[in-house]
Amino acid sequence: MPTDFFAVNGRVMPAAEATVSVLDLGFLRGIGAFETMPTYGGGHPHALDEHLRRLWESAATFGLAPFFTVADLRRVIREIHQRSGHPELRINLVATPGAHTAGVFGGSTPTWVVIARDIHAPPPEAYEQGVAVVTFVARRPLPEFKTTNYLSGKVGLEQAEKLGAHEALYVSPEGYVSEGVTSNVLVVQGRRVMTPVIDCLPGITKAGVRPVAESLGLEWYECRLTRDDLYTADEVWITSAVREVLPVVKVDGRPVAGGAVGPWARRVRAAYREACIRSALADAQRAGDA
Ligand SMILES: Cc1ncc(COP(=O)(O)O)c(C=O)c1O
Repeated sequence: MPTDFFAVNGRVMPAAEATVSVLDLGFLRGIGAFETMPTYGGGHPHALDEHLRRLWESAATFGLAPFFTVADLRRVIREIHQRSGHPELRINLVATPGAHTAGVFGGSTPTWVVIARDIHAPPPEAYEQGVAVVTFVARRPLPEFKTTNYLSGKVGLEQAEKLGAHEALYVSPEGYVSEGVTSNVLVVQGRRVMTPVIDCLPGITKAGVRPVAESLGLEWYECRLTRDDLYTADEVWITSAVREVLPVVKVDGRPVAGGAVGPWARRVRAAYREACIRSALADAQRAGDA
C-alpha cells in the first residue's frame, strides 16, 4: 500500500510528521513561492531545472535567494519515490523565508518543503471528451510569478464548480483572457496556435508544447485573446505540468467547434507526453539516477 512521504528542509519523513513552524512567514504573511511537477518513467521528475529556476525567480520577488540545489531536490524526490511506493508522483515544492523574527517581514532560516503524492492526473475521459471552463474578471497578483497567493482565483473556481466546469480563466478588466487559475490557455484557429504572454505565468508546459506543436506543422503566435476568440476557436487547450495538454470543449456554457475534441489536441498531447518521458529519463541519466 503506497504511503505519503514529504520532506522539510531536505529531510524525508512520513507525511504526518512533516510540519513547519506556526511562525513561518508563509503561514503568517502568505509569503512563499511554489512549483508543481510530475514524474515520468517511474519517479523521474520532468523539467526539474526549469521548475527550480522559476521557483527562484518567484522567490526573488520577496528577496529570497537560492538556498538549496537541484541535486538536493533530486535526492529528496528519489528517496520519497523509493519509500512511498507511488509509481509516479505529483511533486509540490514550496519555499518561504522561514520563521518570523522581527518587524513585519523579517525571516530567519528559509524553509523548503516537498509534498509528493500520487500523480492524480485528470481521468482518461477528460482527454477523450474534453472539459468545460468558465471565465471570470480578476487579476492574479504578480501574474508572471508563482507565489503562493492564489486567493484571486477562488471566486473563479467556485463559479466553475457550481457549473460543473473544470477550470476558470482570468479575464482582465480590459477584456483579455490571460490564463487559468492553475493553467495556461491556448487557442487553435486553422494551423495557428495562439496564446497570451502578458499577465500570465510563463508556463513550463506551454514552453515545452511549442516545439512539439511546431514540429507537427502548427504555427505559434503569442498574442492577446478575448472571450470571443475562445468562443469561435477551432480548439481551445489548457496546459499545466500535471494536466499536460487538456482539450476544452465548452467555454461559459458555449460549445467550442461543436463541442468535440479537435484532432490537434490529441496529436499534440501524445507527442508532448512522449517528449516528457524522454526528457525526464535523459535528465535522470545525466544525474546518475537511472
Ligand atoms: C496561474 C498558473 N498559470 C499557468 C500554470 C501552468 O504552468 P506550468 O505549465 O508551468 O505548470 C500554472 C500551474 O500551476 C498556474 O498556477
